[in-house]
Amino acid sequence: MTHVTQEKWSSGTAFLLAAIGSAVGLGNIYRFPYVVGENGGGAFVLLYIAIVLVFGIPLVMTELVIGRSKQLPPISAYRTLSEGKKSRPFWTLVGFSSVLTPLGILGFYFVIAGYTLNYVFAMIMGKFNDLVPGQTEAAFQDLLASPGTLIFWMTVSLVVTAFIISRGLKAGLEKAVNILMPMLFFILLSLVIYSAFNGGMVETFKFMFTPDFSKIGANTILEATGQAFFSLSLGSATIMVYGSYLPKDVSIPKMACGVAFADTFVALIAGFAIFPIIFNNGMELSSGPGLVFETLPVIFDQMPFGQVFGILFFLLLAFAAITSTISLFEPAVSNLEEKGIFTRRKASLVVGFGLWCLASLSALSLNVFKDWHPLTFNSTLENKNIMDLLEYLSANGMMLVNSFFAAIFIGWIINRKDVLDELGLGDSYLFKFWRLIVKVLVPVVVGYLLLDFLGYGFF
Ligand code: TRP
Repeated sequence: MTHVTQEKWSSGTAFLLAAIGSAVGLGNIYRFPYVVGENGGGAFVLLYIAIVLVFGIPLVMTELVIGRSKQLPPISAYRTLSEGKKSRPFWTLVGFSSVLTPLGILGFYFVIAGYTLNYVFAMIMGKFNDLVPGQTEAAFQDLLASPGTLIFWMTVSLVVTAFIISRGLKAGLEKAVNILMPMLFFILLSLVIYSAFNGGMVETFKFMFTPDFSKIGANTILEATGQAFFSLSLGSATIMVYGSYLPKDVSIPKMACGVAFADTFVALIAGFAIFPIIFNNGMELSSGPGLVFETLPVIFDQMPFGQVFGILFFLLLAFAAITSTISLFEPAVSNLEEKGIFTRRKASLVVGFGLWCLASLSALSLNVFKDWHPLTFNSTLENKNIMDLLEYLSANGMMLVNSFFAAIFIGWIINRKDVLDELGLGDSYLFKFWRLIVKVLVPVVVGYLLLDFLGYGFF
């Protein structure tokens, strides 16, 4: 039974801004550039775009349909939509799993959001001025080795997120994205323009758009799919819950295309902001996760107005992170509130406290508990600390599981007619094409990737 009438987004645009805010995050600006760097550029970018088009957009539509059709949070949505089916308890479980996954993601995401806040502060304090080589690596390693600093900044990002959530949809989420998203676009644009005037654009174009297909293997496909799903916020109830607040007269396919387009555009633009700076300075592109936190500060130090742009860059990362953490936090709160278990404020406090414990553990696993590898029964897991495990299991494994079942649910369990009405494409070829992808192609491909993830891949 529903105890609380859900608030709705004020308009399709408000939803779009919030959903883009969710999609655009550390995945686009921090992770995408270094993953492209590690995977050799053009071919990976093309593959990524193809995956967004073929799987990403249809899956965003799928999650929006599940969320909006009963206008209920994920667990209740799965339960209500499977009413009268023998498999109902199973689908309720899928709902649970979709709500737990973003909490697992937040367990490490808040820590990285904390790094970005720490860097804004360090940049303002001029900590990266007049560097000698090697100093930024040392500074980043120092940060990772300081439990107090990590937990402090993680707590700041968590408290800001919980506060926004506790204020509700319109006064909290909508207001936050209305302020943060325009700033985010403005900063990103200034960085690209700045990069454009400093040269290196031609190399960047070549690197990003000249495909070398010899660089693509089975692993690249898994990597690109994982990156695309993560970047589009799939497989974790966040799109579903944002969809449950979407007014009925807004077109789901249009919204899905808008989110996917903006998200991919920002990832590419982030490449155009970062790569030229790196090419110009003859630095390594394949430096992995250290790209943003170790390589960029060196370069900012050498550029005119580098400190200002450094501050802006890390502020951009922090804003992008916050609009994503609120979307990861919302599903659990929405479910608790709808069931009447807690008021929204209490739910934010309780979920926030639980997450604080988890994220603290994950911050401590970088230093104090560095050598603690809790899961030793499997060769892939045995060398991972808590933070790595959270990332690997929630952001790779569970996201795929949840997306797989969301597709099966829409394709095979719910009435075709109900889906047809909700999607608003009519019984057109476009609808049939979408349904074919969701019914067959997604289960086969994502199912294979899951087998591969579990170590049973066959090529
Ligand atoms: N998409 C965000 C990013 O790129 C992170 C994010 C928000 C997310 N919600 C999600 C990732 C749900 C996976 C699932 O940083």
